[in-house]
Amino acid sequence: MMNLSKRTFLKSIVAASIFAVVGFNAEPVYSSSPDTIKLGYLVKQPEEPWFQTEWAFADKAAKDIGNVQIIKIAVPDGEKTLNAIDNLAASGAKGFVICTPDPRLGPAIMAKARAYDLKVIAVDDQFLNAAGEPMTEVPLIMMAATEIGERQGQELYKEMQQRGWDVKDTAVLAITADELDTARRRTEGAISALIKAGFPAQHIYKSPTKSNDIPGALDAANAMLVQHPEVKHWLIVGMNDNTVLGGVRATEGQGFKADNVVAIGINGVDAVNELSKPNPTGFLGSLLPSPDVHGYRSTEMLYKWIKDGVEPEKYIAVQDVVFLKRDNFKAELAKKGL
Ligand code: GLA
Repeated sequence: MMNLSKRTFLKSIVAASIFAVVGFNAEPVYSSSPDTIKLGYLVKQPEEPWFQTEWAFADKAAKDIGNVQIIKIAVPDGEKTLNAIDNLAASGAKGFVICTPDPRLGPAIMAKARAYDLKVIAVDDQFLNAAGEPMTEVPLIMMAATEIGERQGQELYKEMQQRGWDVKDTAVLAITADELDTARRRTEGAISALIKAGFPAQHIYKSPTKSNDIPGALDAANAMLVQHPEVKHWLIVGMNDNTVLGGVRATEGQGFKADNVVAIGINGVDAVNELSKPNPTGFLGSLLPSPDVHGYRSTEMLYKWIKDGVEPEKYIAVQDVVFLKRDNFKAELAKKGL
């Protein structure tokens, strides 16, 4: 009797730890052979197709290299992040790629990784040290934020001109998330490009979002829209697709017709549902950077670092961008294998 309950207890511990390591959507860790190299890939928002794409291409890199297994874990907060690192170490992983849920976790993540002798590559969002400065010593692969933001601003301006809108009745709603540097750089890039093109700075209204998702952005947008009943046409700026989608939903809620709104997102892969709708909305399109490249290269770099001691580059900013609209998004995504 004693033995039986002890065994059941042990079994449940094993099951629980496998579950903890496996995390969101991951392959079972016990399926690998002893010489398989295990690498973690931790992302803050696994619900975003952006991060699912990074995971898919991390797997592709692992397959191309051979004998590499990617352990994918969702890390929506600090506690889950630190637990994930413990679990990775326990499962014998040698390093991980991470998009942190909060850049200020950088020092805690690095301390834990160092204690376990795990190598770390940051993706998308850069770590900050205790003084709030970027931790440039940690290798980083991210999108060229300022340039892609500038493109958002240029395309919005172009569309406004094509529609023949009078700037007098037009305003920019910029939904901001300035505590995240990549987000701040994108929206600042968009705003500076609009001003450079000739858009009046006094018609640009910034509204900070409390969370980086559609509901957060919707609230931020609603708060600003009600303050400007004089505006007939809105251009919407934001750091990614979900942010500008929150803005679009707010304009719809306040009675604006799709014709009077232009929003351009960033991420591309997160815009597929919106661009597939039978009738056009205020969401004109999205700038697609390279989540495939982020996922593939970061994995490849981490592997080479572990296997052959090749130090990764400290900073890679991926510039390539494709403007997806309703008429080209399927073909453009297919070209990239997405
Ligand atoms: C941030 C955003 C994501 C995505 C990545 C791309 O992490 O939260 O939606 O835009 O940047 O680098």
